[in-house]
Amino acid sequence: PVTVYSDQKAASIAVAQRIADLIRSKQAAGQKAVLGLATGVTPIRVYAELVRLHKEEGLSFKNVITFNLDEYYPMKPDADQSYVTFMNENLFDHIDVDKANVHIPDGTLAPDDVAAFCLAYEHKIEELGGLDLQILGIGRTGHIGFNEPGSAPNSGTRLVTLDDLTRRDAARDFGGKENVPTKAITMGVGTIFKAREIILMAWSAKKAPIIRQAVEGEISSEVPATFLQLSDHVEFVLDVDAASQLT
Ligand code: F6R
Repeated sequence: PVTVYSDQKAASIAVAQRIADLIRSKQAAGQKAVLGLATGVTPIRVYAELVRLHKEEGLSFKNVITFNLDEYYPMKPDADQSYVTFMNENLFDHIDVDKANVHIPDGTLAPDDVAAFCLAYEHKIEELGGLDLQILGIGRTGHIGFNEPGSAPNSGTRLVTLDDLTRRDAARDFGGKENVPTKAITMGVGTIFKAREIILMAWSAKKAPIIRQAVEGEISSEVPATFLQLSDHVEFVLDVDAASQLT
């Protein structure tokens, strides 16, 4: 299903509320909530609202386990552009999550260690019973996580090469495209698909063409987000601008 909100703020508050409801219902049952998280500009206001719910409404993250979708490779965790820095600044440093429960792909691994790390990442998610909720943004290439065009529907966590358009879109953060890493470690399309609930968010007219393809286009690995059409537990949460090219 597609849900369209008047603006990004209203949509972000609604998504944060769903995350909070999940955390609270798991808490009430004495269980952990396992969340799949995304970086980028899209979820920033969701995280800001979760921080507000923590500070003002007593939402606790003590029973929350998180797995981030991706990280550039190579990437030092303390670099400004790392997804570790992003998550700390936008969410983790402001809530009561146990940092031992936070998982982000490791951008510092030696090349020979990447494959084993990726398998272990998958196993950890499975051992915890799988992802309860995965939140996603979408890249202009149609990527989810960093599953660029050509990604297989059953792909797992792995090292990938970033699309040129993705590197151009990241150029500002790195002070030029030449400084953007050419690779990343990402959860696979298959990893994402196994989540019990998936919310893909997109804001602004810049995302309208790729949202049209993702929601209405032919299902193809050329636009990995189209694989989400095959799932019955995906919701596309859009602002009016991102939804503006849907028929
Ligand atoms: C980030 C991620 C990416 C982004 C996508 C959109 O962890 O996996 O797929 O969600 O590139 O980025 P923004 O939100 O910056 O437009």
